[in-house]
Amino acid sequence: MLFMISYFRYLSAHSQAAGLAALLAVSSCNQSTPAEQTAATSPSMTDTTQTTAATAPVSASFGQTQDGTEVQLYTLTNGHGLKVSITNYGGTITSLLVPDKAGKPGEIVLGFADVSGYQSPEFRKAGPYFGALIGRYGNRIAKGRFTLDGQEYTLAKNNGENTLHGGKIGFDKVIWQAEPGTSAEGQTLKLTYLSKDGEEGYPGNLSVTVVYTLTADDTLKIDYSATTDKATPVNLTNHAYFNLSGGKDVLGHEVTIAADRYNVVDAGLIPTGELRPVKGTPFDFTTPHTIGERIAQVPGGYDHNWLLNPAAGQPAATVYEPTTGRTMQVSTTEPGLQFYTGNFLDGTLKGAKGQVYGKHAGFCMETQHFPDSPNQPTFPSTILKPGQTLKSTTIYKFGVRQ
Ligand code: BGC
Repeated sequence: MLFMISYFRYLSAHSQAAGLAALLAVSSCNQSTPAEQTAATSPSMTDTTQTTAATAPVSASFGQTQDGTEVQLYTLTNGHGLKVSITNYGGTITSLLVPDKAGKPGEIVLGFADVSGYQSPEFRKAGPYFGALIGRYGNRIAKGRFTLDGQEYTLAKNNGENTLHGGKIGFDKVIWQAEPGTSAEGQTLKLTYLSKDGEEGYPGNLSVTVVYTLTADDTLKIDYSATTDKATPVNLTNHAYFNLSGGKDVLGHEVTIAADRYNVVDAGLIPTGELRPVKGTPFDFTTPHTIGERIAQVPGGYDHNWLLNPAAGQPAATVYEPTTGRTMQVSTTEPGLQFYTGNFLDGTLKGAKGQVYGKHAGFCMETQHFPDSPNQPTFPSTILKPGQTLKSTTIYKFGVRQ
């Protein structure tokens, strides 16, 4: 009900009813079961219920954190050449192997071989959040503060004067309880984390569950849920950096985003509140464009939140990489997509096989609510209240085009 109420608030605050009606259609998925949500966002998912994964994902050591805690790496396979590795450190996707048009599996995400890569001073300084689960609040909260029910809350600031991706120790840097398993759709990894009242300045004990599922029809599904004992802002996402090319930069990837508007941001990447039509701008991905085609017209590169309004049954975004033929479709119950083109990567970080992660080495499609929503009364609300359950589903579906 939370999302329904917030979207109605949003509708009453704006007159552009046509685009918002589409958002309402997306938001209504939050009222249905995960299976219904999946069917609504991706018709092709429905046939996976025929498949039963007999075995749970395998696990192996992913090394020790700096405070000496052993963390694990869980590898999910789907029998069709897809393999995803996820560590309980930050719930991070460290590797995702997907076949190209010749059927040869290759790495399509940026990551490291063990936990030390995610804890190195260089990684901490660069702060790219490769593959991690992001919370309690994805993206920025201006000046690290917000007022809720008449009380002002001050958050840990970690991005100049702002709070980014949860604060100094966000959900990307904590150890999650992990439970590998299977479902009718495929192998699963269930991760849970209790974010304590006051953590990073946020109110309420927030109990978070994230389930990763790798399905037989080549989809990586992420189901998020959360409950709280005090009202709190919540905005959960995953920060995978994709590169479907197998080594080149991502500028040649062809992208489509089903969004007629995007959030205009200020110099600190905080939304100004203006929802600008993409038409006639380099932000118009309603038809396919390569990332590189117009990126020079966007100061700093793409790092913006699009207001998703896909037609019923259509994905929120589609990506095609012509040299390998790989494709990726993103579908979500979330209203926004943070499309970030790795603008701050500068080559100081290197991957598991020595790959240099330079500028535009990967792109992110972070499905989420809009940045700074706790301070923007006209945006869809991100406030979760006691007695409510946040539910959100995003799927990344992979394929090839010959
Ligand atoms: C943000 C970027 C940030 C990146 C890595 C993205 O979600 O929008 O501004 O640099 O995450 O932290």
